[in-house]
Amino acid sequence: MGRKSSRAKEKKQKRLEERAAMDAICAKVESANKLEDPLAPFPAFRKYDRNGYEQSEWGWKDREKREEMTDERAWYLVARDGGGKQPAAFSHFRFDVDCGEEVLYCYEVQLEARVRRKGLGKFLMQILQLLANSTQMKKVMLTVFKHNSGAYQFFREALQFDIDESSPSLSGCCTDDCSYEILSRRTKFGEHPHRHGSPHCGGCCH
Ligand SMILES: CC(C)(COP(=O)(O)OP(=O)(O)OC[C@H]1O[C@@H](n2cnc3c(N)ncnc32)[C@H](O)[C@@H]1OP(=O)(O)O)[C@@H](O)C(=O)NCCC(=O)NCCS
Repeated sequence: MGRKSSRAKEKKQKRLEERAAMDAICAKVESANKLEDPLAPFPAFRKYDRNGYEQSEWGWKDREKREEMTDERAWYLVARDGGGKQPAAFSHFRFDVDCGEEVLYCYEVQLEARVRRKGLGKFLMQILQLLANSTQMKKVMLTVFKHNSGAYQFFREALQFDIDESSPSLSGCCTDDCSYEILSRRTKFGEHPHRHGSPHCGGCCH
């Protein structure tokens, strides 16, 4: 009887600890999502002027605009040309929870063909890494199609992204012909990886 109740107590304690850990993760994601301008502490990253290309402004879609989007968690980082203010590149990203870890998930990064191979994509991904660090996310994640060899090389070789432990090729939940890989790069807050298989895998705060 005594042993049973102490086991029940332990279980309850474990549940409470897990809930508290998850609440802390969700609180981080929520506060990242509440930021008005995540780049405000990094003014030097507002301008890119290298390799014959000048981009003068990174902008956020304002809150109203964001509410028009299908998912209110979507953040858009938009680069505009120096002169004409034409959009030249953007990234759609979100602060979210993936497999029990707080992450910055890059859903998309797209540059106009005219501004590619000038280092701007790398600069944009550096900004995402910076934002992930400053909001204490554990890693930057993204999905890339294997047939997109340019993007694959960009992320894997130039930016040194790892194949994420949740990627089908590592997690074993997909056969060899899986068309995509999940890639990630840890921040300084994510150096001790949460083991895959956490009870929260797939969990999210919403
Ligand atoms: C992939 C993409 C974001 C890269 O941005 P970018 O500004 O062109 O890349 P960078 O100039 O920063 O490249 C940095 C390095 O990455 C590598 N790289 C970039 N694009 C590459 C390509 N198409 N093929 C091979 N290597 C590439 C190179 O090593 C490059 O250095 P180098 O130019 O000195 O050789 C951009 O080409 C793009 O928007 N492509 C179309 C959309 C897309 O595929 N998005 C990714 C979806 S997951």
